Amino acid sequence: MFETLPRRPLTSTSSVAFCGALLGLIAISAWASTEWSWSEREVRVLRSFSLSTLTAPPASPGNAHADDPQAATLGKSLFFDPRFSANGELSCASCHDPGRDFTDGLPRAIGLGSGNRNTPTLTGTAWNTWFYWDGRRDSLWAQALIPFEAENEMGSDRLTIVRRVAQDADLRAHYEAVFGELPAFDDIPFDAASPLANAALRDTWYRLNRSQQQRINAVFANIGKAIGAWERTLHFKPTLFDTYVDSLDSAGETPESPPLPDAAKAGARLYMDAERTQCLQCHNGPTFSNGGFHNIGTGNFDGDQLDFGRVFGLQAVLLDEFNCVGPYSDADPADCTALRFLNTGHHIPLEGAFKTPSLRGVAHTAPYFHDGSGDSLEHVMAHYNEPPDKAAVGEHELQTLSLSEIELEQLVAFMRALSTPAPE
Ligand code: HEC
Ligand code: HEC
Repeated sequence: MFETLPRRPLTSTSSVAFCGALLGLIAISAWASTEWSWSEREVRVLRSFSLSTLTAPPASPGNAHADDPQAATLGKSLFFDPRFSANGELSCASCHDPGRDFTDGLPRAIGLGSGNRNTPTLTGTAWNTWFYWDGRRDSLWAQALIPFEAENEMGSDRLTIVRRVAQDADLRAHYEAVFGELPAFDDIPFDAASPLANAALRDTWYRLNRSQQQRINAVFANIGKAIGAWERTLHFKPTLFDTYVDSLDSAGETPESPPLPDAAKAGARLYMDAERTQCLQCHNGPTFSNGGFHNIGTGNFDGDQLDFGRVFGLQAVLLDEFNCVGPYSDADPADCTALRFLNTGHHIPLEGAFKTPSLRGVAHTAPYFHDGSGDSLEHVMAHYNEPPDKAAVGEHELQTLSLSEIELEQLVAFMRALSTPAPE
């Protein structure tokens, strides 16, 4: 009797414990796969974000080779070729590292010298209308010409660059297969020349006649067009968030819906709630960018980081000789609609306005903002929650949000889902 007694309570204790654990498990699994429901409006907005709604990149009318695979292969080799920098060590990929989603992980880029802007990703840039944080270029090909000659980037010059293509048998053959025969440069008595860069290079450039300058510019522009053709192939990849959104029906989640962390769902809900956050005003559609310029109080108007943003970019793109209506463009000027109908009106404070970046993959490209001043997504969210005082930094478009710490983390979780590859 004595022997059996202890047994009974023991058995009953363990069955209580077992039942408790079972209940706990049920509770946990119920929490993990919450019956999350979305309103019809939310499902509509969520679907508007899906990558499956993104059409092919818009045409690049200035680049007749924009979608020519042979031009893209040439462009890719030029992108990775360090021989186009003054010290023979830097290529486009030095800053746009494919292993870091084409960024460099630095607050501000460092080439031959230091720059004052953060290196943006190249993924999905084919969907942009304007290039650079201030939009001072209107095509990928026109943009690609700048780093070669920027003293703090690759520090070379256009005459050296076109001569290198002409003198390298492989590059020359590849170039000619795409763009036709290279013009002769024998009548040009200098090795190096550029209308940009330093005084010595400018001096030789202005000693060339107009026809010599145009010949160099035409080949230089084609180098940009090849690079642009390759950059156009760097498409966004589907994320966990896309798979989730594509699985929804108008009533919400379905059995196909992959598990998305609850925090990311709560973040998406906040993101779409125009009464609580303003995100959708600027970061909308499948690219999570309206492609426009906005002032969120990040401009720097003094010190060595002086940066007026769009106010400069707007003038610069109109004056650029490599723009869509310029002499090196392949476009019928009638097709250069973005440039021709460029809104120069100041409905937003353009001083200190920058281009709205995409949020796809954003968790992989810290630090953030045009000047790398946001070191983490949490830091960026703190900026939005309590934007800088307008009296101190000037007019901007943000309102104070007053979100809790948990809500800010939910927005971050949402952006991480936008950066998590889709399940295989
Ligand atoms: C020294 C680092 C560095 C090098 C080298 C470099 N870039 Fe960049 N790139 C940057 C930075 C910084 C920006 C943003 C600058 C700005 O907005 O003023 C940028 C911007 C861009 C953009 C605009 C993206 C957008 O969303 O607007 C493209 C495209 C690009 N670079 C392509 C290239 C190509 C092509 C090359 C080589 C010919 C190159 N870069 C070389 C640092 C670099
Ligand atoms: C008024 C337009 C506007 C609104 C509203 C807005 N953004 Fe932005 N966002 C921008 C612009 C412009 C930048 C770039 C600013 C800069 O570089 O200085 C930016 C930058 C960012 C960045 C940094 C990305 C990078 O690559 O550097 C993140 C992340 C971001 N926004 C998320 C959000 C979220 C989340 C919300 C809502 C809470 C939001 N934004 C609301 C326009 C906006």
